[in-house]
Amino acid sequence: MPVSESASALEAQVRRALDTVQDPELRRPITELGMLKDVSIDASGAVAVEVLLTIAGCPLRGTITADVERALSAVPGVGAVSVTLDVMTPEQRAALKDRLRGGDPVRTIPFNRPDSLTRVYAVASGKGGVGKSSVTVNLAAAMAAQGLRVGIVDADVHGFSVPGLLGITRPPTRVDEMILPPVAYGIKTISIGMFVDGNQPVAWRGPMLHRALEQFLTDVYFGDLDVLFLDLPPGTGDIAISVGQLLPGSEILLVTTPQSAAADVAERAGSVARQTGQKVTGVIENMSWLALPGGERLEVFGSGGGAAVSGRLGDTLGYPVPLLGSIPLDVALREGGDGGLPVVLADAGADGAPDAVDAQDSGETAAGELRRIARELARRPRGLAGRSLGVSPV
Ligand SMILES: Nc1ncnc2c1ncn2[C@@H]1O[C@H](COP(=O)(O)OP(=O)(O)OP(=O)(O)O)[C@@H](O)[C@H]1O
Ligand SMILES: [Mg+2]
Repeated sequence: MPVSESASALEAQVRRALDTVQDPELRRPITELGMLKDVSIDASGAVAVEVLLTIAGCPLRGTITADVERALSAVPGVGAVSVTLDVMTPEQRAALKDRLRGGDPVRTIPFNRPDSLTRVYAVASGKGGVGKSSVTVNLAAAMAAQGLRVGIVDADVHGFSVPGLLGITRPPTRVDEMILPPVAYGIKTISIGMFVDGNQPVAWRGPMLHRALEQFLTDVYFGDLDVLFLDLPPGTGDIAISVGQLLPGSEILLVTTPQSAAADVAERAGSVARQTGQKVTGVIENMSWLALPGGERLEVFGSGGGAAVSGRLGDTLGYPVPLLGSIPLDVALREGGDGGLPVVLADAGADGAPDAVDAQDSGETAAGELRRIARELARRPRGLAGRSLGVSPV
């Protein structure tokens, strides 16, 4: 091959390799984001790459450099690789933000666009401590492991717990007014806990909570998601109503324990959906039993709460509200939460794949049942079918 021809073949391969390098936060190829400033290849095959970071001091600069080096060193014919980092000019940043927003005007909620295909699930309960946050992060992690693009908004502004459950300690990156959410286990996550120091209480009232939630939904760049989860605080307070107002197309997943008192409050929380116009997708019963060493099931919190809520809400709302699953009490789930590694990922299933359909996914363990529920939810068609159009029959 003539020298110039092989050089241009090498250059094409180098470009293709760079196409595989993603910005760790934006999760799109750096070549698409205008982050590749320059590439040069000398006669010996040494490649010099200049990458433009969105902001100076980008916390993930090391990751980007390593990813570029890794991608290029896999290309045959490439010799030494050097990566130089520079920072975008305000104009380049503006162009990037424009591209990310798809030309949309600033400050709209992308999930409300008529063509949005993202399913939004608000995970709610009547009582506190029934496992909403644990269910949220585990369903999200299981879906992400199944290949879906998943985000979480921790809407429990006072009692935020999602960053801890996902082991996130890094603050979000800001590109001017745009906030790039940290990604853990493939899940883009935002929480007020990422903006306060240590364990300080957030002493906000209704209107501020509403604005914080609105800002999460408008200023945080989630990109195209298949599923967005909102982890709600317990009960039917300000945040639940704000979610109904800010995301009228969101659906509710109701978490309850088997206890009849808990089920009664859960039912009330579910009925609020009628006022907000949201659909209740289903009920998840948590802490349903504890497996004893002999194989017996001890029903610590009684039984039947989930089925009762499902039946009564179905009657009240006039459409089926299925019981999506019953999750046992499981030490591994609690440990996963404490350790910041969701149990659906820690316990990999019998054949080693977190999303496997296998014996362990029959619902005997919390991880198996959560993965099963995640698969059921993922199977629901994405898109506009079945979504309330916000008009009432005359
Ligand atoms: N199935 C389960 N097995 C064992 N422990 C569980 C289970 N579900 C939840 N837990 C534990 O119960 C506690 C409460 O769970 P979690 O924080 O998820 O509830 P929540 O409904 O989000 O609470 P809050 O109302 O305070 O937001 C946590 O310590 C969690 O680890
Ligand atoms: Mg919670």
